[in-house]
Amino acid sequence: MAVQVVLGTQWGDEGKGKIVDYLSKNADYVVRFQGGNNAGHTIKIKNDVYKLHIIPSGVISGKIGVIGNGCVIDPEILSDEIKQLKQKKIHPNLLISNRAHIIMPYHKLLDGAEEKYLAQGKIGTTKRGIGPCYSDKIARNGIRAGDLLSKEKLIKKLERILPIKQQLLKIYGIDHVLDKNMIANTYHAYGKKFKDFITDTHDLLQDAIIDGKNILFEGAQGAMLDVDYGTYPYATSSHVIAGGAAIGAGVPPKVLSDLVGIVKAYTTRVGEGPMPTELHDTVGQYLQKNGHEFGTTTSRPRRCGWLDLVVVRHACRLSGISKIALTKLDVLDGIDTVKICVGYEMKNKMIDIFPFDSDDVALCKPIYKEFKGWDKTTKAASFTDLPQQAQEYILFIQEYLKTPIWLVSFGPERNQTFMV
Ligand code: IMP
Repeated sequence: MAVQVVLGTQWGDEGKGKIVDYLSKNADYVVRFQGGNNAGHTIKIKNDVYKLHIIPSGVISGKIGVIGNGCVIDPEILSDEIKQLKQKKIHPNLLISNRAHIIMPYHKLLDGAEEKYLAQGKIGTTKRGIGPCYSDKIARNGIRAGDLLSKEKLIKKLERILPIKQQLLKIYGIDHVLDKNMIANTYHAYGKKFKDFITDTHDLLQDAIIDGKNILFEGAQGAMLDVDYGTYPYATSSHVIAGGAAIGAGVPPKVLSDLVGIVKAYTTRVGEGPMPTELHDTVGQYLQKNGHEFGTTTSRPRRCGWLDLVVVRHACRLSGISKIALTKLDVLDGIDTVKICVGYEMKNKMIDIFPFDSDDVALCKPIYKEFKGWDKTTKAASFTDLPQQAQEYILFIQEYLKTPIWLVSFGPERNQTFMV
């Protein structure tokens, strides 16, 4: 394995949690490099279901979980997740980058307030304070994990930041007093709680690479939510594509060559923003019900539609995806005619490149290739065990993307997976 990166190629929720859990068998370290508790990874092991938002999924298999500098951390949520795992007899082995930014109470208040003010133009964020926290990072007003270790430093930073945030809350009509001492006490207490985890994780990872350790990078969200290459402004605030792993963990880009793109066999999206293959019919409802397409983080129903290969190719090219893990193939079982989007008609033109402008994306009418459906995939142990029609579906995806399908997942259990 050495270094392997797992990335979402759609709008998130591709089933990365299960694949990371599957691949982390051979890993020494499992690393998150972007995002925060806007993510939700569900892992099912026998009768236990784990729902993680910020802790890397690999800790469930006893691996060292690293929360890299590119992440944003809500310490309250992190505490809760650690507690939840301990209740299930899992003692997470965690490392937190001292450079990771901390989601503060005002970030959460402002996320909700901004969305309310945007009204019809809202992004549909998870309201976890992600955007405001990343905004502060770039504006150089952030508080980092390492800052939580010193109360004096924390107070000094808060003295600089809080008056601005207090004004902002007032503008948004939020009647909430930001009490410097209370915030400093609470967040310093988190610092003390996590002090053994907070360190120069980039340095440890660089050593691990030199020592030939196995490192698995666990992407959150998907390429279409990348702040530069996704459906901006209907995107998240981090770099979701492969380049983000180098920056968000502090490792040289040249080590990132084994890049696994996770492709769900159909498309889903939560929140606002265009989605060309969205279905508003009974097939859409079937996918939602059969695929249990409800957000892990916000429980919102996910919008569902056919697989969009224009989207996936965009993602594969941006990250240089070397192989694909196809997930949730079983959700398509029992549909008479299955479709894949291979291009768009936009303003009377045929295109197969994802448009820059979300208003243009909203005008895109998908061009479909149709496939005869299949009955059941549930008992496949290898590619040739799949129904012929499902094999054709997979081979077409591989040919279109010019990227090998490497792994197929057809159910939530670990054993509902095979390598192609
Ligand atoms: P934020 O990341 O909370 O700011 O939300 C921005 C957009 O990204 C919204 O449309 C969210 O629904 C979406 N989003 C964020 N995290 C995830 C995820 O893990 N899966 C799917 N969508 C997500």
